[in-house]
Amino acid sequence: MRKKSTTAALNFNTKWSYSPAPESTDHVQIKEKYDLFINGKFVKPSGGKYFDTINPATEKKVSSIALASSADVDKAVKAARNAYKQVWKDMPASERGKYLYRIARIIQEKARELAVIETLDGGKSIRESRDIDIPLAAAHFFYYAGWADKLEFAFPGRKAQSIGVCGQIIPWNFPLLMAAWKIAPALAAGNTVVLKPAETTSLTALKLAEIIQEAGLPAGVVNIITGAGPTGAALVQHPDVNKIAFTGSTDIGRLIQKSLAGTDKKYTLELGGKAANIIFEDAAIDQAVEGIVNGIFFNQGHVCCAGSRLFVQEGVAKEVIKKLKDRISTLIVGDPMDKNTDIGAINSKEQLNKIKSLVKIGINEGGECWQADCEVPSKGFWFRPTLFTNVAQSSKIVQEEIFGPVLTIQTFRTVEEAIEKANNTPYGLSGGVWSDKGAKVFKVSSKIKAGVIWANTYNKFDPTSPFGGFKESGVGREGGLHGLSPYVKFN
Ligand code: NAI
Ligand code: MG
Repeated sequence: MRKKSTTAALNFNTKWSYSPAPESTDHVQIKEKYDLFINGKFVKPSGGKYFDTINPATEKKVSSIALASSADVDKAVKAARNAYKQVWKDMPASERGKYLYRIARIIQEKARELAVIETLDGGKSIRESRDIDIPLAAAHFFYYAGWADKLEFAFPGRKAQSIGVCGQIIPWNFPLLMAAWKIAPALAAGNTVVLKPAETTSLTALKLAEIIQEAGLPAGVVNIITGAGPTGAALVQHPDVNKIAFTGSTDIGRLIQKSLAGTDKKYTLELGGKAANIIFEDAAIDQAVEGIVNGIFFNQGHVCCAGSRLFVQEGVAKEVIKKLKDRISTLIVGDPMDKNTDIGAINSKEQLNKIKSLVKIGINEGGECWQADCEVPSKGFWFRPTLFTNVAQSSKIVQEEIFGPVLTIQTFRTVEEAIEKANNTPYGLSGGVWSDKGAKVFKVSSKIKAGVIWANTYNKFDPTSPFGGFKESGVGREGGLHGLSPYVKFN
């Protein structure tokens, strides 16, 4: 007979904590002001305007960033066109590959500096930028460097050709990593690029521009222009761009798709998500709880594939929710530069306001809201890890992407019910299934309409693996061989 446990209930609400373990910033070089990177050089914006980028954990200014006007966009596209025609398109593919390898290696050499800048500018924890963002960015360059001279094996029996100048627009949640996802396959396939980072997190893209200079990449092959929505729109509308690659919100994705209708520009859109993370009764519950935490609280929940809708089978719901609350109570929220921190700062005030307003709607609609009672710093943008129970399929917080550390929890009884509920969303980017039964995992994952499904794990990324969505989560794939095809054409 099993002995009854005599252990007292765990109390996480104590003042006991880790000693601070801040990452040093001594080795980091951030200029006071960054110009636009066009034709291999940093050049002043034609309108002479700059905007501030701040550290969301302190609200202090980090640097000034050039604001590119449509005249600058035009200059960058011209530089990319010239580089395409004059050097890049006809360069032996193995030479193109060498540049990509070189960029990958310099990213590795500067990994520490890049990680610190990513964290200072965007608010994500140093542990994540150091262990995930930067190594994966280098891995993408390494991976696509390998394809550069093997396109005939990538597309056997067909002659893959480059498409020309690619306009690429990226979001603020994984700044350097998204730049790598976009630039590496484009260059490997022989295209040139104009990239626009998001306005709150331009710094690592500009550091990448310095790395590109150091690697000796021919001028104009990669151009990096900074600014907000209007700069991105000017790039999308530029008549001499052959392809647009966009990652960001579904609303802007829709706008872009509309403005591209009737042109012969190719496009890929990597948009929002509202993934179901499904826990069956036969799952390893402790591991599943870790997976739920990783699924929704990774990068403060600013993740398009976040497991933001939790579905737990009724028989284990009580246990899962209790264990989840216990686990969440141990998460350290605060200074992103501290190596102990699990959850850093929300990327911007706008994003914080969006999260707050959706949470308020959730409460007004009758959802039961639970928050970790951790302390958060007084300056900066913070949001405590949050759970919602007593929500319905029709609840706004179950339907809309919150893009923050907020999880909705629903229960189900049968496999069919789980599938039905998981698919009841306009999105289709990702999902998670937790079960001890392989057959069940295969059945459920094949019936869920999403580009990526993780089984008994969550948020795992690899450059060899394609990523992308169905339905309102977008079109096209990035990563892997699939990520090369949007950058080539066949005659
Ligand atoms: P956004 O979609 O406005 O921004 C993404 C990128 O697009 C940025 O570089 C931005 O400057 C650019 N952009 C904005 N308007 C544009 C236009 N008209 N034409 C071309 N480029 C344009 O996303 P935002 O406003 O930063 O975040 C709003 C919401 O979008 C978030 O709360 C989140 O729900 C969602 N989002 C989703 C992402 C995802 O990966 N699924 C990434 C970023 C945001
Ligand atoms: Mg910033």
